[in-house]
Amino acid sequence: MSLDPDFEEMRRQGHRAIDLAVAHLADLRSRRVITPPVAAELAPLLAEPLPRQPAGMDATLDRFFTAILPRATLVNHPRFFAYIPGPGSFAGAIGEWVAAATNPFVGTWLGGAALAQLEVQTLEWLREATGLPTGMTGIVTTGGSMANLGGLAAGIGDRDRTRAVVYTSQQAHYSLAKAAKVLGIPATQVRAIATDSTLRLDITALAAAIAADRADGLLPAVVAANAGTTNTGAIDPLPAIADLCARERLWLHVDAAYGGAIALLPTHRPLLAGWERADSVTFDPHKWFYAPFECGCLLVRDDARLAKAFGGDAEYMQDIPRRETNFFTRGPELTRGARALKLWFLLRAVGVDAIAAHVRADLDHCRLAHELLQTDPRIEIVTPPQLSIFTFALRAGEDAGRRLVDDLMREGFAMLSSTRLHGRFAIRFCVVNHRTSASDIRDSIDAIRAQIDATSGV
Ligand SMILES: Cc1ncc(COP(=O)(O)O)c(C=O)c1O
Repeated sequence: MSLDPDFEEMRRQGHRAIDLAVAHLADLRSRRVITPPVAAELAPLLAEPLPRQPAGMDATLDRFFTAILPRATLVNHPRFFAYIPGPGSFAGAIGEWVAAATNPFVGTWLGGAALAQLEVQTLEWLREATGLPTGMTGIVTTGGSMANLGGLAAGIGDRDRTRAVVYTSQQAHYSLAKAAKVLGIPATQVRAIATDSTLRLDITALAAAIAADRADGLLPAVVAANAGTTNTGAIDPLPAIADLCARERLWLHVDAAYGGAIALLPTHRPLLAGWERADSVTFDPHKWFYAPFECGCLLVRDDARLAKAFGGDAEYMQDIPRRETNFFTRGPELTRGARALKLWFLLRAVGVDAIAAHVRADLDHCRLAHELLQTDPRIEIVTPPQLSIFTFALRAGEDAGRRLVDDLMREGFAMLSSTRLHGRFAIRFCVVNHRTSASDIRDSIDAIRAQIDATSGV
């Protein structure tokens, strides 16, 4: 069997793959959100002998769609409300498929100028759609973690790692601390600043920490603020943080991996006020812009800082023009595929207004879920809807809450996840999915209530 079959056979295989994927999507709502994974079952399911001889494309497609995908957790399911869902979209998937099938290289200008320019344009659309300042540009990454790494790398620059300090909040995504670690900043120089009662970074505590570090001879370098925390959707006091960073000459990185999409809504953009003063901003279009995994974006005010962090050279690269965009100088990788294509296809084919309308619908659906649950006397709201997340606890206590999350997973109808807020157990309900309907919300709330009835013996 050839790596590339003849063209007729290519079409047949491609059409079949698309038919199976579309059938899966068409059937999504009726599927289980999760089948709790059992390693002892999955290992033998996948442990086939090394396939030296061809199994054939049809048999391989069948195996994936009938034996493996049904065991996967469906984070794009309309009733997946755990963590931050990854809804993906068909328009984005076409872009991803086109990128894989045509396989352009986008690491250097010489190797892929047209696609590099397409990536630049995609970032420019993202900037314009979200109202960030003209001139901000950057790179499409595999996700928010890599965008946070790039923002911190640019911000820390060549500062002495034994003295540079990075500030985040106690609610920051852990990828920021991980990025600091990868960049050689000792854990003792990463400050998780306390948050206030609404889980926003406490600006007084931040100012005090910076002053104390300066007094200790350390080098405050970067403040990484949240524009929508993973836990509750809290947005840090960005104007005050931007003022402080300006006064202290610190790099301001804003992690808008989750919250950045609300800038698409003129009604909600003011919630992010202050972020336009950031030196770098993380987006994660594979969350709330409905792009397929893996699609994050980093925008920076001064791309020379990215080039300083990631630039490198070699004799065999001497033919590459340096005045144009060379993405290998904006991130850790040289070889990169047309990662922007899924976002370019999505934005261009569907239009930003449609994406914005879905973000608004997700906000409405989150509020609906909150409204339906908050009247239940067995439930206590821990944090009201912020962006599209609210959290709640069961009055019966933490064990009952844990049981609810586990029982829902066993049922497989809807999925929620839990966290701790100020040390206290809470259940998160997060809506990020253009497929989620008001009926999905109502049915899921009914399922939650029924589960509480069942465990409390009502
Ligand atoms: C606020 C925030 N930042 C960063 C990340 C990391 O992004 P990714 O999982 O795409 O690497 C997440 C992921 O959920 C997030 O919610």
